[in-house]
Amino acid sequence: MEPLYEGKAKRLFTTDDPNVLRMEYKDEATAFNAEKKAEFENKGRLNTAITLAMYRMLETKGVETHLLDQIDEINLLVKNVDILMVEVIVRNIAAGSFSKRMGVEEGTVFNSPIVEFSYKSDELGDPLINDDYAREMGLATPDECAELKKKALIVNDVMIDFFKRCGLKLVDFKIEFGRTKDADAKIVLADEISPDTCRLWDIETGKKMDKDRFRQDLGGVMGAYEEVLKRVESATS
Ligand code: TMP
Repeated sequence: MEPLYEGKAKRLFTTDDPNVLRMEYKDEATAFNAEKKAEFENKGRLNTAITLAMYRMLETKGVETHLLDQIDEINLLVKNVDILMVEVIVRNIAAGSFSKRMGVEEGTVFNSPIVEFSYKSDELGDPLINDDYAREMGLATPDECAELKKKALIVNDVMIDFFKRCGLKLVDFKIEFGRTKDADAKIVLADEISPDTCRLWDIETGKKMDKDRFRQDLGGVMGAYEEVLKRVESATS
């Protein structure tokens, strides 16, 4: 069966119900806009399980997501939403592209979170944008940008607390949103929440427990993801 959409880490398939899609998590990992690529056995399974647990946890805190159900170890059923082409990044601690762009040392703690928008375009390398770009490019209205920012900060508050219970510091993360296709179109969380899309540092040791292990060739990538899943599952059970 041909996917409806294939991204770097997931595939989307139609189902018998036009309102429902199947989202399959792949074992492939990419970094630096796919300049660097590798396959990790079990990554799909681990990211499916982590996303599922995170979405369920967020739903209990009133954050709506596109999740409907789990099918198997690497497939989730999700609402067929229109994905907004704006990626929302929240940063609590300087790292990654922020440190590089701004010359700020990794690990510098921000007084308040920084929210960033980028244009979801592999071709352009997900460039940093602001509300005015989003409006003029027809990606999101000013009201929607305000809503994305507000929702992302709520997700940040909930996840900081949750990961603290897992012994993990939430350094930063990227989330995506979709518009539901019902009459009362709502903006809900979509895509994934995993060590591919969050930077997580062990509170005790400072060890990186996320995709930076792959980006920076630190080794033990799947071992770190397994450990994150173990902690997430024990904090949600
Ligand atoms: P950055 O520091 O490379 O901009 O990344 C910020 C956060 O966003 C980090 O937790 C990793 C995540 N991220 C993605 O999920 N997808 C991407 O394509 C990029 C560039 C970052």
